[in-house]
Amino acid sequence: MSGERQARTMRTASYEADPDAVERVLLLYSGGLDTSVMLKWIQDEYDAEVVCLTVNLGQPGEDYEVIEGKALKLGALECHIVDAREEFARDYVCPAIRANALYGGGYPLFTALGRPLIAKLAVEYARRSGCDTIAHGCTGKGNDQVRIEATVATLAPELGVIAPVRSWQMGREEEIAYAREHGIPVKGGTEAAPYSIDDNLWGRSSEGRWIEDLSHAPEEDVFQLVTPPRLAPDEAELLEVEFERGVPVALNGERLAIVELLERAAEIGARHGVGIVDHIEDRIVGLKVRDIYEVPAAAILLPAHQELERLVGTIHQNQFKPGLENQWAFLVYAGLWWEPLRADLDAFMERVNEQVTGRIGMELYKGRARVITRSSENAVYDAALASFSESGGLFSQTASPGFIELWSLQSRMAWRLRNEQGAR
Ligand code: ARG
Repeated sequence: MSGERQARTMRTASYEADPDAVERVLLLYSGGLDTSVMLKWIQDEYDAEVVCLTVNLGQPGEDYEVIEGKALKLGALECHIVDAREEFARDYVCPAIRANALYGGGYPLFTALGRPLIAKLAVEYARRSGCDTIAHGCTGKGNDQVRIEATVATLAPELGVIAPVRSWQMGREEEIAYAREHGIPVKGGTEAAPYSIDDNLWGRSSEGRWIEDLSHAPEEDVFQLVTPPRLAPDEAELLEVEFERGVPVALNGERLAIVELLERAAEIGARHGVGIVDHIEDRIVGLKVRDIYEVPAAAILLPAHQELERLVGTIHQNQFKPGLENQWAFLVYAGLWWEPLRADLDAFMERVNEQVTGRIGMELYKGRARVITRSSENAVYDAALASFSESGGLFSQTASPGFIELWSLQSRMAWRLRNEQGAR
């Protein structure tokens, strides 16, 4: 056994594949450089067959026929292309909307929501195609390895995992040389490494290059989705979002299927420069990094949903929910989609959202999405009660002094105790 092979045999985790037992591998294939090199490398290194799976989560500008052709040309036994946009939108993005999900105050979790679904599909197709192992292209420094491997280990303890990028110790230069040697087409040649991109219908992230220099202001070539605000139209655009039970169902009165609605919202937001987030982030593996996010749909739909929820919720519901939202976002960010607490929290979110039906009007203008109108049959709001006019109905102004006396009782007692006693 070569030293290198021996090193690979040393496994830290129970779910890591035993190299000698790897016979047929399900590779999560994107068609990019890393996973194309991987497709060849796995066949050579493990003397194994490779089945490819490419998942469409609504990432713009992909040509799936080209990806499939490339996989088969590089020796894949089969290449499955799965359109999972609807499942993603319905079962992953909609719960995120009901939970007003943002991690670290700005990241709407599009990648974190996509990974458990991609890994779940990898398990399904691995079983269907008789694979013993799942391979992915994540590095050892990111959150995505956590999300994918935690999912596989949870749903399919019988499958092994390999993550070649973590072990093969090839840099970009070596990968390009390997690709050239093995007839793998390389897009764009050997000039400076491109941004590291991940995207789907809920957003797009860029990492690498100048983004790693915290003092470097964003260069505009990073924005491939959202128009830089200064170049956005001089006319504001109004957009009315209608929700039913916390889920967006119509834009400007037109009912749309969920995938189309998310895509349409993204397109309108992107045109107006809405949804640029320059984010410092605490990764689950301990690193602190900077990401540039373009999240035009989330930047419209999350504030709209939150506003409607505020309108229909009581003070107690509105005070309580953000703590649970934070916990939901953290579990999802941290790769624990399958953790029962996430489902428990979803049950709460769904229950609260039974009331979240109504319409929110947004004004989009040069990078901002601002709520300007609200309406809901479930609003806990009465214009007559809220106005400055006379008492009446459920509200009696003469009751207020009694309320204030009792409401402030303990605070007044404590103040007196601490201040007057202290003075003695
Ligand atoms: N920082 C984000 C996250 O952890 C985005 C990661 C993007 N992933 C990628 N492979 N480029 O979810």
